[in-house]
Amino acid sequence: MDALREEMQSRWNTDGVHYDEIPAHGIQDKQEGLPWTALFSSVPQRETTVLDMGTGTGFVALLAAAQGLAVTGLDWSETMLSQARKKAADRGLKVQWVQGLTETMPFQDNTFSLLCARHVLWTLAEPVRAFREWRRVLQPGGKVYADYAPRAEGQDMGHHYSEETERKLPLNQGASPEEVMALFREAGFNDVSWVSQEQESGHGAPVHPKRVFMFTCIK
Ligand SMILES: C[S@@+](CC[C@H](N)C(=O)[O-])C[C@H]1O[C@@H](n2cnc3c(N)ncnc32)[C@H](O)[C@@H]1O
Repeated sequence: MDALREEMQSRWNTDGVHYDEIPAHGIQDKQEGLPWTALFSSVPQRETTVLDMGTGTGFVALLAAAQGLAVTGLDWSETMLSQARKKAADRGLKVQWVQGLTETMPFQDNTFSLLCARHVLWTLAEPVRAFREWRRVLQPGGKVYADYAPRAEGQDMGHHYSEETERKLPLNQGASPEEVMALFREAGFNDVSWVSQEQESGHGAPVHPKRVFMFTCIK
């Protein structure tokens, strides 16, 4: 792994122990889960295989498992995954947890029918490389669901990683939805759409509610 990714991964392996306590992450907020539960309850249970990309403490993966779907949660941070594992055990839910990098995943081509990425796009060091890999592991006709909240005006850099590192992350600079869509297209997704939503956020009083874009890409 390169130095940039090492710094990023180590941040999740340290501060990640407090992830669920931070209101902006929405983990304790029932409203946050509703759109995901609606999605998971609308797909055919037997044929659906979900990959929760950058699963973290398992927020989305556990919602999918609660709907009876076959779910894999991938993350590079053992600190985040260990919390996800504990929550799954506490709730009696089955998820396959995999430690790995989103850019080089240990899955065969055409494995999943649904790939979810909540609160992940902003942190990708090479979005197009990651999106190509996401497309590779999706079955033909499979879908990506990914949210994206552009950096709000007045929101400081250096909140998650060092300021220097944050400046290197292409989608951490407040990209427009059209720019994000262009990156998905560059990675081979021809069918890309997005909807815009306003969400409450606990991230520093002056910047909310914040605008969130929900992307759907079909392979
Ligand atoms: C903001 S958290 C989102 C966690 C979860 N999806 C949620 O909705 O709460 C971003 C997650 O992506 C993971 N991550 C970031 N870059 C990654 C990479 N290149 N490969 C694998 N995981 C990565 C981090 O470890 C972290 O758990």
